[in-house]
Amino acid sequence: MPQFSIDQLAEIALQILTAAGVPEDDARTVAAELADANAVGHDSHGVIRLMQYLEMIEQGFVKPGAAVETVRSGPAFTLLDANFNFGQVAATRAVELGIEQARQAGTSTVMIRNCNHVGRLGSYSKRAAESGLASMMAVNAPGPGGVAPFGGIERRLGTNPISMSAPWGETALVLDMTTSATAEGKVRVALQKGESVPEGWIIDADGNPTTNPARLYDGGALLPLGGPLGFKGFGLSVMIDVFGGMLSGSGVCRTDLPRGANGVWMYFVDLPQFIERGAFDNLMSQYVDAVRSTKKAPGVDEILMPGEIELRRETDRRANGVSVPDETWRQIQELAQKLGTSVG
Ligand SMILES: NC(=O)c1ccc[n+]([C@@H]2O[C@H](COP(=O)([O-])OP(=O)(O)OC[C@H]3O[C@@H](n4cnc5c(N)ncnc54)[C@H](O)[C@@H]3O)[C@@H](O)[C@H]2O)c1
Repeated sequence: MPQFSIDQLAEIALQILTAAGVPEDDARTVAAELADANAVGHDSHGVIRLMQYLEMIEQGFVKPGAAVETVRSGPAFTLLDANFNFGQVAATRAVELGIEQARQAGTSTVMIRNCNHVGRLGSYSKRAAESGLASMMAVNAPGPGGVAPFGGIERRLGTNPISMSAPWGETALVLDMTTSATAEGKVRVALQKGESVPEGWIIDADGNPTTNPARLYDGGALLPLGGPLGFKGFGLSVMIDVFGGMLSGSGVCRTDLPRGANGVWMYFVDLPQFIERGAFDNLMSQYVDAVRSTKKAPGVDEILMPGEIELRRETDRRANGVSVPDETWRQIQELAQKLGTSVG
């Protein structure tokens, strides 16, 4: 598998996106988010998405350069309409606005309607934490992922991720998770690597459990998070459809679009307006120590906090680079050729 640095991946993505007519500033934002996902080890949300994004531009579903407009706003909220520009462009704007408003008002809520795929949600919540805020975010994503409701065997829900973050010393605690058993992109990565997926992730078109990733794209479905307790992941997903899809006005069962629009819900808390930062940091430090002080199960070396595994992977990958599966690299090169550009 070819090996790339994170900067090289961002450059490759930028090259492809600008060749496809995406305005340079927006292309930089999207390329940086894709490379960041590779950096933290979520390859499912990295440069592998370029093929899907270009297809979405061709289909007219991603509208490069479309204005991200404010539909309505008040002292502590903003409703944005992304007008189907890239989700990364709209989400970046939303985080900037949310931080600004929460610093004025203490808390703020930002929603986005008509949004495309925002990529790795934890990237935005981490940014809020790094700016000294706590945040909660969710996206209802009725895209091609397709999750079966608890007890159902047909696709009805998106993988609807949720992310929560707070400052943790110099870094951030970042929970960032799908409400399905896995992100659809992880099944796609397994398919491209020719690997099987763990049991409990997907079912085939007849509702039978399977570990063959191809079955997902053959009429199958992802399962909700929780295995036998999948009603919990299902319940979270339903409420994210309400908060992200319905409250934002983005919609949940739209039949006027070739694929569902994403709806985004973000909530920001400016910490110093609730608790003095030093006191918060002390509490966090004591809390993490207390959590980690447990006896460990056999074979477990350490307790990791939410977001810590991504931090570690990032340190490693920024130093050592990332391997891109042969099939993904072949597709990227093919795409570059089609766009009349070169990616090395
Ligand atoms: N934009 C979208 O529409 C969309 C849709 C679905 C998923 N996603 C993204 O896909 C990515 C992957 O989601 P996922 O649910 O597969 O992630 P995951 O299962 O790898 O991780 C989920 C959470 O668990 C934590 N974690 C992982 N291993 C841990 C361990 N051993 N100990 C303690 N904590 C641990 C991680 O830090 C993370 O917060 C996320 O970035 C998500 O935002 C985006």
